[in-house]
Amino acid sequence: MTNRSGVEVIFDADTISRRVGELATEISGRLPEDVLIVVVLKGSFVFAADLLRALDRSGMQPRVDFISLSSYGTGTESSREVQLTRDLSEEVRGQTVLIVDDILDTGRTLAFAVDLIVARGASAVHSCVLLDKRERREVRVDADFVGFDVGNVFVVGYGIDLAHRYRSLPYIGAVRSV
Ligand code: IMP
Ligand code: MG
Repeated sequence: MTNRSGVEVIFDADTISRRVGELATEISGRLPEDVLIVVVLKGSFVFAADLLRALDRSGMQPRVDFISLSSYGTGTESSREVQLTRDLSEEVRGQTVLIVDDILDTGRTLAFAVDLIVARGASAVHSCVLLDKRERREVRVDADFVGFDVGNVFVVGYGIDLAHRYRSLPYIGAVRSV
C-alpha cells in the first residue's frame, strides 16, 4: 500500500507495536532490571520511547542516556567515518549498557558505539536495533536484539528520516521515488 506521503508501508504501526512488546520481553529475560539504556540519536528516538515503556510493562526500571552519532560520506561509502556529535552525560564505568539504535546497516555506527562504551569501562555492552539490513554489513558486528530484518531498501518513518523528513510517520516504509 502506498499512502499520501508517497511511502510504501513495510511495517505498520500495529506490527511495530507487537514486535516492540516482544523485544521488551526478550530483553527483560536477559538483562538486569536497572540496565543503562544508551539511545543513539536521532533516528531511534521514537523506537526508544516505545521500547522504554514496554520495558516498564515487562517489570524493568532502566536508566536512559543519549548519544548522537553521524556518519559523514567522503566520496565513497566505504570511507565513511562515524563522528560523535553529542556525548553521553552518564558515567558508564561498571554498568551494564544496552545500546538502542534504529537501523543496523554497514555496522559502522554500532561498532563505534560499542567500542566507545567498552573503552569507557562498561562491565557489559548489549545492543538492540529495530531494523537489521544484514546483507549491507561491511563491519563485523551483530545486535543482540533485533526487531525486524529488512532487505537493501531505504526506509523512513517511526523516527527514521530522509533529509529530515518523514520522522513523524507512525509506520515504517520505503520512499517510492527519491
Ligand atoms: P551504519 O553505520 O551503516 O550501520 O548505519 C547506521 C545508520 O545509518 C542508522 O542508524 C541510520 O541513521 C542510517 N541509515 C541506514 N539505513 C537507513 C535507511 O534506510 N533510512 C534512513 N537511515 C538509514
Ligand atoms: Mg542512526
